[in-house]
Amino acid sequence: MVMSEVGHQGCQASDEIHRIERHLGRPIPVRGRQGIDNLLCAEAQLEHHVQHPIPYLAALRPLGAMTNGAKADFSLSLCCWCNSCAISGKVLMNHTLTGGVMAQQKDSIALPEVAVTGEQTLQQLLRLRRSNRKFEDAPLSLSEIGQLLWAAQGITHQGHRTTPSAGALYPLELYLVAGQVEGIEAGIYRYSPKSHRLNQTADGDRRKRLTRAAMWQSWIKDAAAVVVFAAVYERTTWKYGKRGVRYVHIEVGHAAQNLHLQVEALGLGTTAVGAFDDKKLANLLQLPADTEPLLLMPVGRQ
Ligand SMILES: Cc1cc2nc3c(=O)[nH]c(=O)nc-3n(C[C@H](O)[C@H](O)[C@H](O)COP(=O)(O)O)c2cc1C
Repeated sequence: MVMSEVGHQGCQASDEIHRIERHLGRPIPVRGRQGIDNLLCAEAQLEHHVQHPIPYLAALRPLGAMTNGAKADFSLSLCCWCNSCAISGKVLMNHTLTGGVMAQQKDSIALPEVAVTGEQTLQQLLRLRRSNRKFEDAPLSLSEIGQLLWAAQGITHQGHRTTPSAGALYPLELYLVAGQVEGIEAGIYRYSPKSHRLNQTADGDRRKRLTRAAMWQSWIKDAAAVVVFAAVYERTTWKYGKRGVRYVHIEVGHAAQNLHLQVEALGLGTTAVGAFDDKKLANLLQLPADTEPLLLMPVGRQ
């Protein structure tokens, strides 16, 4: 569930959210469809004064047990913090909202703990990195998938990630089109960096459709899984304007190179793929309206 969905239900949440948006002077960006663990969170920045933009977290939490697709009451809190002044952690508002509807939630899968040591040096991996388009017909393990997603966008410390992000606004969203991954069914999953989990958004093997969306690059369907990098531009452009678009593109490059090097460290193969039909891919992944696909990286054994 996302805040805008609550707002569109015509329940009290709608008024509250609009009131907060009026207070902030802009819409609360939403993170798109997501799973229960980090459900209902929207991050944005509240301009405190010129020197200190203050990030805030608007969080809706279910009150009591939740059933998929059912109506329920939520608490809404808006917190803000600032590393350089005293208001850190102050809760601005706390409300109870009634009658929100939680989106259908499919499986949420905890990923194994990541390894932070390896056998090869960074220099060796840089020298070895190559695009690979031939894959064995063999599955990837869940721990390999977890390691790859963490390398691309995982949390390292205090909410910061393996890749830099302009203003620490983190516009990237990672999806996994899983075909052959041990322990999970074929389907589409969204990666939650905060909880290091995969939240399923659709089922079924979508690799052939993905190949068609990617201009019939037939080798893509042979990858055990495909990592899709998408972005919510608004998370960055509200602050940096048009220049924010450039920042988002730079960030996806950082994340893709991290994934390339992690693939190499695991002895797997991948290639960055930019040739695809944006609309077909967004439809296939059922991306929220504010989320655009930027890059694919099919991964498999070689
Ligand atoms: C932004 C971008 C888009 C790319 N798109 C594709 C693509 O659609 N299909 C493909 O086979 N390779 C694609 N590539 C991979 C390049 O062809 C590859 O990196 C290049 O041939 C250099 O080879 P190397 O990666 O082994 O050094 C893309 C690479 C980048 C950086």
